[in-house]
Amino acid sequence: MSEICKNWSQWLGETRFAALTPEMREQTIRWLELVRDILIQFSDLKQTDTVLDIGTGTGLMAMKALELQEGKGKVIFSDKFQDCLDSCKEFLEQAGIKQGYEFLNAPCEDLKLDSNSIDKVFMRSVLVHIREKQPAINEIFRVLKPGGKYCAFEPIIRSNTKYYELLDPQYINNFEDFKKAETDMGNDLMDSLFNFDDETLRHNLVVAGFSVPDVQVQSVESKYVVNRDMVEKWFITPPSPDQPPTKERFLKYFDEAKINQYILDIQNYLDGREIQLKTNAAFIIATK
Ligand SMILES: C[S@@+](CC[C@H](N)C(=O)[O-])C[C@H]1O[C@@H](n2cnc3c(N)ncnc32)[C@H](O)[C@@H]1O
Repeated sequence: MSEICKNWSQWLGETRFAALTPEMREQTIRWLELVRDILIQFSDLKQTDTVLDIGTGTGLMAMKALELQEGKGKVIFSDKFQDCLDSCKEFLEQAGIKQGYEFLNAPCEDLKLDSNSIDKVFMRSVLVHIREKQPAINEIFRVLKPGGKYCAFEPIIRSNTKYYELLDPQYINNFEDFKKAETDMGNDLMDSLFNFDDETLRHNLVVAGFSVPDVQVQSVESKYVVNRDMVEKWFITPPSPDQPPTKERFLKYFDEAKINQYILDIQNYLDGREIQLKTNAAFIIATK
């Protein structure tokens, strides 16, 4: 686990927002709610459905499904990490919500559920943290009932804007070396964050047995003004509790002094500038 983030609950509650201004944080929360509502709509959720939210985290998907079902169905909050389930449980207890749900502490590659037992599987931003996607998708296919739906949303980080694309080489020491290192890191097939895109996901789904999976990439452009603190956070914030931040990843290529100089050059160049970023994500809808 990272030194500045001890578990998933902390990452979801604080760390993921570290480089954002309060306004950007609010926008992100609204966007998460929008993604959640789109997935619920795609799923054609019924009140009596048995629903599984894999990698539920703070319960983004599961809490909404539970609200819509009004206790008439069953929502399974599932996660590999118990701290996430504990915080969902605490929230539900405090809200006085007593029925219509269960907890499942299991990794998505081995869900310990009966085959053909689930009507709807939700998953948001979980495969991106799992190196081997195929076993997880096979397991989802196994637990779904025939006619059941898998509805997911996964960031496609491989085709996002790169740091070097935001920079002017004349102001950055060793620009070409850092560009090469960042390109190399983005092509690492052992890295769960970068080792997939919509094509590989479609392939995984077909191999698992989904006959006509729908995988649609959504590309979002955002503009904002950068400050020095944000740049530092980009480099030191881990993308998950168990993965190294970008600064640490660069240590494979450069010594720390060179990396610190690169960060300083970026801070000097970008401070007060407006940047435009492209982020990509896939909506997945697949029926068994
Ligand atoms: C980025 S968070 C997403 C949380 C939640 N789905 C949401 O949309 O806010 C990733 C979640 O996946 C869970 N996770 C990571 N690896 C997992 C695995 N192998 N099996 C099940 N859950 C996993 C983490 O505990 C965390 O809750």
